[in-house]
Amino acid sequence: MFNKIRLWKNQNNNSSTLREKIEEVRKLPVPEHVAIIMDGNGRWAKKRALPRIAGHHEGMKVVRKITKLANSLGIKTLTLYAFSTENWKRPKNEVEYLMKLPEEFLGTFLPELIEENVQVEMMGYKDQLPVHTLHAIEKAIEDTKNNDGLVLNFALNYGSRSEIIDATKKVLNDYKSGILKESELNEEVFSSYLMTSNHKDPDLLIRTSGEIRLSNFMLWQLAYTEFWFTDVLWPDFREKHLIEAIEAFQNRQRRFGGI
Ligand code: FPP
Repeated sequence: MFNKIRLWKNQNNNSSTLREKIEEVRKLPVPEHVAIIMDGNGRWAKKRALPRIAGHHEGMKVVRKITKLANSLGIKTLTLYAFSTENWKRPKNEVEYLMKLPEEFLGTFLPELIEENVQVEMMGYKDQLPVHTLHAIEKAIEDTKNNDGLVLNFALNYGSRSEIIDATKKVLNDYKSGILKESELNEEVFSSYLMTSNHKDPDLLIRTSGEIRLSNFMLWQLAYTEFWFTDVLWPDFREKHLIEAIEAFQNRQRRFGGI
């Protein structure tokens, strides 16, 4: 509560710059892995009588701002839900636009990401992605592979239930071929079969736009994650909102089932 009041006071008086706020937030542990369900692009556009894709375009610009801030805050991984395995059900023009966004984003901002030491990664089913989308992502992954700052992990054509089923099939295969014994299977080993095998589980999940559900996002990985929901639509999400979410996280007591 105290932190919230202080942040608002700062905003209203304009007495504290973003840099000062970053320094303040960094005095306490920041979440290592932040995952965001970027929701509300369509409603943002509708409110302005614009086509839905205008909301996605605006949302893309917010990705840049939030990536920069996450990097400055010392967050290690930022996972963004950019397209789910269910999003193919949307109108063709919207799907086509969403598949062009990674190219547009990376075409514009890749030099900046390289400069800022960000590593681009992707999790999701690559096979169904259009070639142009995959090329843009793969180029960015290649061009940033030697960076060691923030990992910007796009969840693209990602679905958690499919991921869990596929992991289970791989476990069964390894069991059948003798690579894995039944006694060896535990949570850590199962996690290593998931698309997030090289990341720790998210510490903080943010969902924008007032929806309070997971929408098939990282169901296994979010078991002990702190959730933070806001009514703000993704295109309106700003640095101050991420800072607010992190301050809320810093005020939580994580017990992981203990006392
Ligand atoms: C959900 O809002 C948002 C999406 C399905 C797409 C999210 C994509 C971006 C924010 C841009 C991604 C940028 C890059 C760089 C890949 P919605 O369309 O469901 O909104 P609504 O619930 O208001 O209709």
